[in-house]
Amino acid sequence: MPRTAKAVLCRELNKPVVVEEISVDSPKRGEVMVKLGACGVCHSDLSATNGTIPMPPPLILGHEAAGEVVEVGEGVTGFAVGDHVVSSFIYMCGKCRFCAGGRPVLCIEQGKALTTLPDGTLRTRDARGNPVSIFSGCGVMAEYATVHTDNLVKIDPKIPFDRAALVGCAVTTGVGAVFNTAKVMPGSTVAVFGCGGVGLNVVQGARIAGAGRIVAIDANEAKLEMARRFGATDVLLAKPGEDASKALKKMTGGGPDYAFECVGSGELAATAYRSIIRGGLAVVVGVAKPGDSTSVRTMTLPFEEKTLTGSYFGSCVPRIDFPRMLGLYTGGKLLLDELITRRYSIEEAPQAFADLESGRNARGVILF
Ligand SMILES: NC(=O)c1ccc[n+]([C@@H]2O[C@H](COP(=O)([O-])OP(=O)(O)OC[C@H]3O[C@@H](n4cnc5c(N)ncnc54)[C@H](O)[C@@H]3O)[C@@H](O)[C@H]2O)c1
Ligand SMILES: [Zn+2]
Ligand SMILES: [Zn+2]
Repeated sequence: MPRTAKAVLCRELNKPVVVEEISVDSPKRGEVMVKLGACGVCHSDLSATNGTIPMPPPLILGHEAAGEVVEVGEGVTGFAVGDHVVSSFIYMCGKCRFCAGGRPVLCIEQGKALTTLPDGTLRTRDARGNPVSIFSGCGVMAEYATVHTDNLVKIDPKIPFDRAALVGCAVTTGVGAVFNTAKVMPGSTVAVFGCGGVGLNVVQGARIAGAGRIVAIDANEAKLEMARRFGATDVLLAKPGEDASKALKKMTGGGPDYAFECVGSGELAATAYRSIIRGGLAVVVGVAKPGDSTSVRTMTLPFEEKTLTGSYFGSCVPRIDFPRMLGLYTGGKLLLDELITRRYSIEEAPQAFADLESGRNARGVILF
């Protein structure tokens, strides 16, 4: 049954998001309709509204949500009405060499469902009946969304929607970068550049992995206080125009073993790379503008065996990693309650984006 729903849209680049009534069509083959309970506001949503992540408007935002299945399309197995689910924003064909090799974030077909469902069509229309694109196969910053089952993971219904939603991006991206991408060793030294929703999860991932020292770096003092709560042992205030790598090297006796860039800047990626000790690993998690680039001193690659790499969605396999993250939460190791600084109604979405931009929140979550 088609439904009308309020949704958060980017109508025009570089303008505040708007809340509109849309219609959501019934699920087709392999899809289900979800009544959303909560959706986190990620910097990547903001990046879609300013062209950093190119997804042309009109676009229904949201890729970090949890909700309940209310309608099931043809051929769907493994999902039933009443199931609780978390969204996953990667396209995985299941057949290419990367999917087959257990690395679905690298799926060769990934570009296919950037702003549509995997079959290239949409179930969403605005009040005038015009189709509206969706963020990365999801578009879940809305009361209802029709989503392909490959973009959903079933979860324990005892976990509240607002906490569960965070696993759909920030948690899996941050903790996954530590566990899956970097495979951080116990006792090692970790530096985290940028302590927003993603960076704070790198911090807590490093804590859970048993890192000995965790240095949090942010331009905002309040974020450093938050980082301490998530497990940072040391903090460093980033000052504009100042190279943090020198202070970091001094602080850690030669540089951290791992550095994570969680802001989205080539310059900061270079700083992260410069700061690591010989044999170290710098991981770029932040998403920079398409034209941005970074550079390394070439000689350091052979002589110091340093590595610069990236991490997309924590190199996760959603069906394995989402339940794993939630298991860490129910086991008391992963902090999710503390990650939500503020909850918003859907009408307050423009405020939620403004608060993200001003750095007020660890994570802001919209409740439906
Ligand atoms: N790789 C992935 O799969 C993936 C997934 C989700 C988000 N992201 C990206 O990760 C980045 C962070 O996302 P978020 O939601 O945590 O954002 P956020 O806005 O919550 O956090 C960014 C943090 O960086 C800090 N910062 C800004 N400039 C800085 C500087 N020069 N030095 C130190 N700190 C600085 C801010 O104060 C803020 O605390 C974004 O680029 C986002 O697009 C990547
Ligand atoms: Zn995200
Ligand atoms: Zn694939």
